[in-house]
Amino acid sequence: MARPGHSTAWLPLLVLLFAAGATAQSCLSATFTGGRTFLKCNQLPVLGASLHWTYHAVNGTADIAFRAPSGADGWVGWGINPSGGGMAGSNVFIASQTSGAVSVLTTILRNTTPTLDNTALSFDVPVPASAEYAGGAYTIYATVALPGNTTSQNTVWQAGPVSGGRVSQHSISGPNVQSVQRLDFLSGTSTGGSNSRLHRRNLHGVLNAVGWGILIPLGAMIARYLRVFEAADPAWFYLHITCQISGYVLGVAGWGLGLKLGSESKGLTYTTHRNIGIAIFCLATLQVFALFLRPDKKNKYRVYWNAYHHSVGYSVIVLAAVNIFKGLNILKPVTGWKTSYIVILATLAGVALVLEAITWAIVLRRRKRNQAYGGANGTGVQL
Ligand SMILES: *[C@@H]1O[C@H](CO)[C@@H](O)[C@H](O)[C@H]1NC(C)=O
Ligand SMILES: *[C@@H]1O[C@H](CO)[C@@H](O)[C@H](O)[C@H]1NC(C)=O
Repeated sequence: MARPGHSTAWLPLLVLLFAAGATAQSCLSATFTGGRTFLKCNQLPVLGASLHWTYHAVNGTADIAFRAPSGADGWVGWGINPSGGGMAGSNVFIASQTSGAVSVLTTILRNTTPTLDNTALSFDVPVPASAEYAGGAYTIYATVALPGNTTSQNTVWQAGPVSGGRVSQHSISGPNVQSVQRLDFLSGTSTGGSNSRLHRRNLHGVLNAVGWGILIPLGAMIARYLRVFEAADPAWFYLHITCQISGYVLGVAGWGLGLKLGSESKGLTYTTHRNIGIAIFCLATLQVFALFLRPDKKNKYRVYWNAYHHSVGYSVIVLAAVNIFKGLNILKPVTGWKTSYIVILATLAGVALVLEAITWAIVLRRRKRNQAYGGANGTGVQL
């Protein structure tokens, strides 16, 4: 018998090979003015840019061409960071048409809001940079002495707008913060940089969205809506606590990863996102410890404890939703993600609304019945 799964299994592989071929092709087929040719090239993972170079081992230099698409009213840049992985400390070439013609300047980015004065770089540039603009892309040419005479370097690249005749700030989210990679000019392999960082940013997003954004509200709904059914006591409590503890564990893992990512991104801090994240962690941790201080059901202070527990719990849920949207705006993942989260949130809210109505109907009916029997609030449900 033929194995139907076998032939189709090749399909994704073929598509992948074609895709890989196509990307390699797009950088290999590039041509340059002035009869320039380069031995190696790398299609960079974001911003549609590519780097082309020839490395000379005898004197530790590399002739480079950096090409990136841009409007004529934009700027592009490429550089090496001898001091670390990010933007701060990078030695860069920036091409633009701020002076009316295509020009390129060199500068060292000392912080994230640098003055772009044309200064000498910290490494030698034996052939000064030049640039051209053609076919909707800038190309920067230069020869650099690789710092430290080592072939493996942290490289950065960027593209942004020109406004008021000046190179102005690039976007600080999405692909524009993934444009770093460690490149070996000898072998042509690139490592670390954006891809593994992007992977960890996605993981941070998923852990937090599932933990704080789905499990915690689900647990709150279980507590609020299952409790009215006498048969669900004490099952609701165990379900509630299972949901909240798993949500807390996933959320704290995602939170820790977020702090780590934040500490690695020198010079670029998403202050609000970070502060809200810290607030969520503190409130949720408080909630866990307050569990041990919970007064007995009959205790007269229980009503205060409940009020505290509910207000802190709902605050965590609201802050988490706000922060997940903030995170999505920073990460700018493929469009499906934001929509999925909105759908999940809307579903939870819709279900909560229906259950809220049912709960009130049950509670009111019980109250009526109790009054009819002249009874006390023996079966009363406290919401
Ligand atoms: C480095 O070596 C290459 C190849 O021998 C040569 O073409 C180039 O001019 C040299 N560059 C410098 C700055 O000496
Ligand atoms: C760089 O290293 C190579 C050997 O790896 C050596 O031949 C060359 O002289 C060095 N260049 C400089 C400028 O130190």
